[in-house]
Amino acid sequence: MAQKTVLIAGASRGIGLEFARQYAIQGWKVYAGVRTPAKATELMRVKGVEVIPLDVTSANSIAGAAWHADEDPLDLLVVCAGLYGPETQGFLAPGNEDFDAVMHTNVLGPMRVIQAFADSLISRRGKIAVISSTMGSISGTTSATGLLYRASKAAVNMVAKCAASEYGPRGLTVVSLHPGWVKTAMGGPNAQIEAYDSVLGMRGVLDRVGPADNGAYLNYDGTPIPW
Ligand SMILES: NC(=O)c1ccc[n+]([C@@H]2O[C@H](COP(=O)([O-])OP(=O)(O)OC[C@H]3O[C@@H](n4cnc5c(N)ncnc54)[C@H](OP(=O)(O)O)[C@@H]3O)[C@@H](O)[C@H]2O)c1
Repeated sequence: MAQKTVLIAGASRGIGLEFARQYAIQGWKVYAGVRTPAKATELMRVKGVEVIPLDVTSANSIAGAAWHADEDPLDLLVVCAGLYGPETQGFLAPGNEDFDAVMHTNVLGPMRVIQAFADSLISRRGKIAVISSTMGSISGTTSATGLLYRASKAAVNMVAKCAASEYGPRGLTVVSLHPGWVKTAMGGPNAQIEAYDSVLGMRGVLDRVGPADNGAYLNYDGTPIPW
């Protein structure tokens, strides 16, 4: 069987690093996109991973990374880079700087990354995983905690849905995934699951989904999440 290729945007640590590790172990060709390659020391030690510069807030950086996918068509794109921003309790509007940083990373970044890699994926009838969160579920929201992050994840869900509408008819399957509450820098030490189990679950989901699931919003165990 031909070797499969994945590009992970935001692979320096946390869930993205774990995706790189697991796909490399499975024998995939892994492009691990990170904004500061020199700092991604743990990732550098993973055998079979090609670390490439990719800052999702920079159009130039995305264009540079997309060059790899022109050479080497992708079967899977995982858009994982994310920023939580201010850890607010209650309804507290962010300042401009926080708003720009979170929205550029969590929303504009995925828009540009998906657009840049779509053609490469289409040639392989590939899949796109947008790593979202249940905090982006509008119908599931009962608290204003992390207001800016919630708004960004609701917005990126729409980005995923629009990508599904645009690229589904051309053979792609696009899904929004909630990774669970994961023990990473973002999830913190009290989180419920290890990155290993989150990624193992999401890999299983990504393996199983096909065109009939295009545009779905799923938990890391495959359970549908209400929008
Ligand atoms: N952990 C959880 O419980 C949880 C729950 C729901 C959803 N999520 C989502 O899962 C994804 C991964 O989260 P995580 O827990 O692994 O977080 P994390 O440990 O804080 O890691 C965040 C990752 O995003 C990268 N990143 C941030 N800005 C970037 C940029 N401009 N360009 C490229 N990479 C960038 C970081 O790179 P640097 O090393 O350069 O900063 C790092 O690799 C995020 O989208 C997050 O919202 C996480």
